[in-house]
This record gives sequence, structure tokens and C-alpha cells, in this order.
Amino acid sequence: MYRVLITDPLSDQGIKPLIEADDIEVDQRLGLTEAELIRIIPEYDALLVRSQTKVTAAVIEAADKLKVIGRAGVGVDNIDLLAATRKGIVVVNAPDGNTISTAEHTFAMLMALARHIPQACAALKAGTWDRKAYVGVELAGKTLGIVGLGRIGSEVAKRAKAFHMRVVAYDPYLTEERAAKLGVEMADLDTVIAQADFLTVHTPLTKETRHLIGREAFRKMKDGVRILNCARGGIIDEAALYEAIQAGKVAGAALDVFEEEPPKNNPLVDLPQVIVTPHLGASTVEAQENVALDVCAEVLHILRGEPFKNA
Ligand code: NAD
Ligand code: MLT
Repeated sequence: MYRVLITDPLSDQGIKPLIEADDIEVDQRLGLTEAELIRIIPEYDALLVRSQTKVTAAVIEAADKLKVIGRAGVGVDNIDLLAATRKGIVVVNAPDGNTISTAEHTFAMLMALARHIPQACAALKAGTWDRKAYVGVELAGKTLGIVGLGRIGSEVAKRAKAFHMRVVAYDPYLTEERAAKLGVEMADLDTVIAQADFLTVHTPLTKETRHLIGREAFRKMKDGVRILNCARGGIIDEAALYEAIQAGKVAGAALDVFEEEPPKNNPLVDLPQVIVTPHLGASTVEAQENVALDVCAEVLHILRGEPFKNA
């Protein structure tokens, strides 16, 4: 029997293949502290997480028989990959199961930002009928700057084109050919930043992308630019964004992710120009089922010594 530990909420439908497998015993233990995880991890062959569980070097060090860590989602920045590699533990993710949901959430945020929908909704529910305070902007004819034109960035681009936006993107690892197919102009980062009316980031969080959008970048932007981050907290420097909004340089921002989650005493959350969601990009029934199914299939293959897709 292989023992699998699940420490974040995963779709019941998605983990069915694991639950029903004859050679697998599944334990679901949500909300563990690092110390609790370190204490119990030696009993398990596989660990399944979303983004809440931090799979630190100390957890990995204590994992005596762990063969695989499965991430039901895209970003693996909550897993110490170096420590896992050193211990010969395979890390697998679900790279495309939540692409559409996250692109749709990004677009929902973009429209809500353009038309002040959350603020107007809150005001009206509080008894204020104010049409002047919430005059928005059209998307048609505006330029959307995309940093990171991978799976999600590409789907956001397609939706923006359908809304008659011009799309200009920066992605040093993407071919001009792929961008041309999407009807997207490729440019260097400075050009994208300077031309964008709306700027959205869709890169992984790496050493290279941490604070990629910082004070220097905000200085180069158009006055009244609107900023979106539905990728990872930390790609945009939150302190620099706060200053740029306070200075009137940035008209508004839509944030699904934060440098610290949940955000604690984060002044951005309190600004009226900022709309926020609690890391909901992939939170749809469909995406959660997809990513859980995908990662469970990979974990089963790895435990059984069968070929698997990604590592
Ligand atoms: P992806 O790997 O398909 O795309 C990422 C793109 O970023 C790639 O094309 C890559 O070439 C590009 N890139 C890498 N470094 C770059 C740099 N320095 N500058 C510009 N581009 C760079 O990934 P994806 O599935 O599109 O996911 C994108 C991000 O969204 C990840 O951070 C992921 O964790 C996050 N995400 C968030 C949610 C959410 O709930 N909010 C859901 C899913 C994914
Ligand atoms: C991801 O990287 O896939 C996202 O963080 C979605 C999630 O797991 O909530």
C-alpha cells in the first residue's frame, strides 16, 4: 500500500481515482502547521498540496520515504524544489487544468476595474446611489500590456482581442510566430510598460520576476494606467504600487494574489482604487476538478513506477 497525504482542500471528484485505487491509502489533514507536517510526513509516500501548504526544506528533510510531491495547480513556488531534487523526490504539477478559469478571472477583474463595479456595488448596497463617482473607461481601442504570454497570458490576450483591445506583450521565451498567431505584438519590457493602458502580469514568480514591476517600471508608465496581478504576489512590488496609486500615476489595480497571503495590514487592500479577491483565479468547480484529476493521475503513475508527463 502507498500512503498519500493531502494537506490542502482538493476537489472530491478530482481525488476519486486515488481514493478508489486498491493500492493507495489517502489521508486528508488540512491546516497543519509546519511542525505537525514535519512530524507526520515520514509515514507517507506522496504529498498532495495546493498553494497554502509550504513544503519547506525542513519538511522535505523529514520525509523519509516520500517519492512525489503533487501540486494541484500551476505555481510550484510553495515547494522547495532544490531540497526535493537533492532528496530525489519528484515534483509534479497540473500545468493547464486551471488556465481558462484564471484567464476568465483576470478578465473579470479587468472589466470590474474599468467600470468600478465592486466599489459601486458596495456603495449602492450601503444605500448610496452615486452615478458620478463611478464613471469608467471603455476597453475598445485601449492597449493591454501583457508580461508573460504563456498559457494564461495567451488566453487573456484572446479575450482582450475580442473586446477590440490592442495587445502588446513581453515574454523573452516566446517566439514571434506564436505571438503573431494570437494577433499580439511582441515588444521589450520598457515598450510594453510605456504603451499599456492596462498592464497584466502572467509570469511565474522566480528570482528574475520578483519585483519585475517596481518603482522604475511605474515611472515609465502612462499616467492613469491600470494594473492587474492574477499570477503571483511579488511579481509587482506592492510598496511601489501603493506609492504609484497615492501619487496619482496609477488609476487603479486589481489584485488576486499578494506578497503575503492572506494579506496582513496591507495598505493596498484599503485603497478605494484597488479591487481584490482572495486568490480565486483557479477557484471554479471545473478547474479544481481538472487540476486534482491531472495531478492524481501523475502521482499514481509515479508511485507505481509508470511513465509520467511532467516533473
Ligand atoms: P506558463 O508557464 O504557461 O506561462 C508563463 C510565461 O511567463 C511563459 O510564457 C514564460 O516564458 C514567461 N516568462 C517567464 N519568465 C519571464 C520573464 N522574466 N519575463 C516575461 N515573461 C516571462 O504559466 P501559466 O499557466 O500561464 O501561469 C502564469 C502564472 O499564473 C504563474 O505564476 C502561476 O502560478 C499563476 N497562476 C495563478 C492562479 C491564480 O489562482 N491566481 C492560477 C493559475 C496560475
Ligand atoms: C496556481 O498556481 O495554480 C494557482 O495558485 C491556483 C491555486 O492553486 O489556487
